[in-house]
This record gives sequence, C-alpha cells and structure tokens, in this order.
Amino acid sequence: MAKGKMVAVFYCQSCGYESSKWMGQCPGCRQWNTFVEETVSTTEMKSAAGMRKPIKEKAQPRVLSEITIKDEDKILTGIGELDRVLGGGIVQGSLTLVGGDPGIGKSTLLLQVCRNLADAGHKVLYISGEESGTQIKIRADRIGSFSNNMLLLCETSLDTIEEIIRRQKPEVVVIDSIQTMYNDSVSAAPGSVSQVRESTAVFLQLAKGLGVSIFIVGHVTKEGTVAGPRVLEHMVDAVLYFEGDRHASYRILRGVKNRFGSTNEIGVFEMEAAGLKEVMNPSEFMLSGKPEEASGSIVVCSMEGTRPMLIEIQALVCHTSFGIPRRQTIGTDFNRVNLLIAVLEKRLGLTLGNCDAYVNIAGGIRITEPAIDLGIAMAIVSSFKNKSIDNKMIAIGEVGLSGEVRAVSQIQARVQEAKKLGFTSCVIPAVCLESVKEIKGIKITGVKTVKDAMNLL
Ligand code: TYD
Ligand code: MG
Repeated sequence: MAKGKMVAVFYCQSCGYESSKWMGQCPGCRQWNTFVEETVSTTEMKSAAGMRKPIKEKAQPRVLSEITIKDEDKILTGIGELDRVLGGGIVQGSLTLVGGDPGIGKSTLLLQVCRNLADAGHKVLYISGEESGTQIKIRADRIGSFSNNMLLLCETSLDTIEEIIRRQKPEVVVIDSIQTMYNDSVSAAPGSVSQVRESTAVFLQLAKGLGVSIFIVGHVTKEGTVAGPRVLEHMVDAVLYFEGDRHASYRILRGVKNRFGSTNEIGVFEMEAAGLKEVMNPSEFMLSGKPEEASGSIVVCSMEGTRPMLIEIQALVCHTSFGIPRRQTIGTDFNRVNLLIAVLEKRLGLTLGNCDAYVNIAGGIRITEPAIDLGIAMAIVSSFKNKSIDNKMIAIGEVGLSGEVRAVSQIQARVQEAKKLGFTSCVIPAVCLESVKEIKGIKITGVKTVKDAMNLL
C-alpha cells in the first residue's frame, strides 16, 4: 500500500475529470452529478504509472523510413467481422478496449478470439477477474475445444499479472475486465477512476514495451456507478463498442476509435447457443420477417462503414384521440422525424396535424443517417393514405426543408446491394442518376422532390 497523507479527491465518473471539491456539473464533459469521492495518498497523486521503471532501459530514436511494416505484424483473429473492425487484424503491441453493457457478449467474443488464435498456434493468455476457472470452462465448453496454447489466469492483482505476462510472454492477452483489476500502489477501490486509469497505464506500458497485444474489457453502465471506460478512451489504440438490444439476438460491434484503421466499420454478430456467430449478410438478416402488402413499410439502404445495409422502416399514422398528437420514434432521431412530418404537411398539404405518428426501424437497430429520410417520408405517407408500397422497391435520399430530395454518398454501392437482394426498383435523388447509369437489371427512378416520390406510391 502506498505511503503518504490520505486526501479526498473527486473524480468525474464519465470523463475522469479531477477536482478537490464536489461539483454538480463536470466542467470537462458537462455531465451532471457524476462526481464521486475517492481517497488517494499524496504520493500516488503524481501518478503511480509515471513513477514505474521504463521497460526498455536504452531508448534509441530510429529513422522513420527504415522502419518496415510486415503483413505478419497483424494477427488474424479468424473472425472476419472483428478483423474488419480492427482494420485487418490485431496489430502487434496494440491496446484495444472492448466496451459494452454487462451481458452483451464481450467475454464470449474474446474467448472465441482466444480459441481461434490458440488454434492458429499463437500463445494466448486470458485473465479473468470476474469469473472462476470453472465458470470459464463451462462457457468455453459451449464454444468448442481449446488447444494447449490457451492459458487461463484468474487474478485481479496487477503486480501478479504483470509478472506472469513477463514470464510467459504471450502474444495476445485478454483482461476481463479492467474494473476488477487492482493496483497495489493506488488506495482507491477496484473499479474507481484512479484504479482503472492506473491499471490501464500499466497495460499500456506492457503492450508497448513487450510487444504483446492486449484486449481490455470495460463495462459501461447507464448510471455511471462503475468508472466508465470513457476515462481510458484516449489512452488506448482502439475502442470497440459492443451494442445491441438485449432482447434481440444480434449484436453490433462498432469501432469508435482506431489508430490502425477506419472507425466507420461495424461487425454484425448473432448470439447463439454455441457462442457468437458472424452475420455475413446483415441486409438479409434485417429484412427477415418483413410484412408483405402492408401500408407504412418500406426498405431503405444505410451505409455502415463501407458496407451497405438494407433496413425496413415502418410508420403508423392514425387519427389522434387526444388534443395533442403523439409522435414517437424507435431507432431513429425523433426531431428529424418531426421535421419530415412538417415538410410533408407544408409541401404536400397533408393534414398530419391531427394524427399520431409512430416510426420504427425494424430489427432494433439505430440509424441516424440522413439518407433514410426519403424512406421515412414515404412510409409516413403510405400509412396516412393506407396504400401499400411495392414490396420490391427501395428508397434512398435525404430530404431538405423545401421538400427537395438531396444527393447521398456511395449511391452505387447502395443500389448494387438492393439489386443483389432481389429488389426490382429503386427511388433515388435525381442528381445521383448520372452515377448509377451503368447498373442494369434494376429499375432506377430519379426524384427531385418528395412530391415526385409520392406520385410513385
Ligand atoms: P457474456 O460474454 O458473459 O457477456 P459480458 O462479458 O459482456 O458481460 O455473455 C453473456 C450472455 O450471452 C449471457 O446472457 C448468455 C449468452 N450466451 C449465449 O447465448 N450463448 C453462448 O454460447 C454463451 C457463451 C453465452
Ligand atoms: Mg464478461
């Protein structure tokens, strides 16, 4: 335990802002009621990690042009969806944070990664501070058989972990989870901001110094009771968030920061009885169960990274029984839908003022891309007029306040995806027609305004 005078420090649980007194609002991230008191000793306020011995005694600058990158520096995880989000595999010596709500499948995913890596002959160390060896074995049995390259350690003390990593020299280490790790030189409880930050600093040194790739699991809770992994976001090389509806079986892995690749990529997984399975064709998955000949339903195309994804939008417009009409959205921006309703009232003269309107993105996914505007508008009008939209039609386009349909990016990829999944007609912004004239086998209609689009219904 560290020596020195004990003082109370207040940390913001959301961003790690440090203050000597309690504050209602964090000056750093503007969140309310996030300060929590932690007792630290005066010596450790200088940062425990900063006082550690450097791992390499002799640091030498190198000529940049002489550093070569080999393909072998990236280790493939054997899970294509994860490799893409990581930017082509695990980079040697990288520190990756995997965040997400409890129970979303972080441990399962990383255990599967460990199995694949061990099978491919890499030495892997899985460190769990949450579950016992038996519990992990039960989970591992659901996933499959493991080779002898996979080592397991149930430990929370950082000193022990550091010693074992140095001795065993694994290629990849998984820390499950950072909130359970305990650094002796910090007096605050595990899971507190100072513990989480110091532990991460130690793993950062290990990763860079020894060249091991480390995955850190971090829990996020809405109440912020456990120190949010937001504190560590700027320390690590990549931050992946695992999200998804608890009740739906699919999970989405999203990169929010990546020093080695693009951050727009997503990976789609499905939770099954034997672990997570990659969803190769998310569009097909999202459209399964789409009603036929129902009013208020249309398919749109949203870009998730470099990949187009077809999604069904549903709208329900009905006469309101109360004075003020009710508007509700699930999976998309509420204000955007209100704006589109106002555009429809003004530009098409629809009397939506006395109607309740509900808009739902089917499948529980969340999309805020403006390219789905035209689809939302068409779904609302279709439900209002109680006229169903052609089953094999998709709509792409952003809608402006004067009712114009504006251009969207990567129109070719979107139309190709629609064609691939058997759609026969496609409504796109008129300004984009030029770029898709080579695509044959699907009827493409360009529209200038929402009014033009509604005439197609
Ligand atoms: P877990 O990986 O423990 O979540 P986290 O580490 O993010 O807290 O996942 C737990 C959930 O996944 C749990 O509700 C059970 C479910 N699950 C399956 O459906 N199939 C499986 O093969 C496994 C291992 C877990
Ligand atoms: Mg877990």
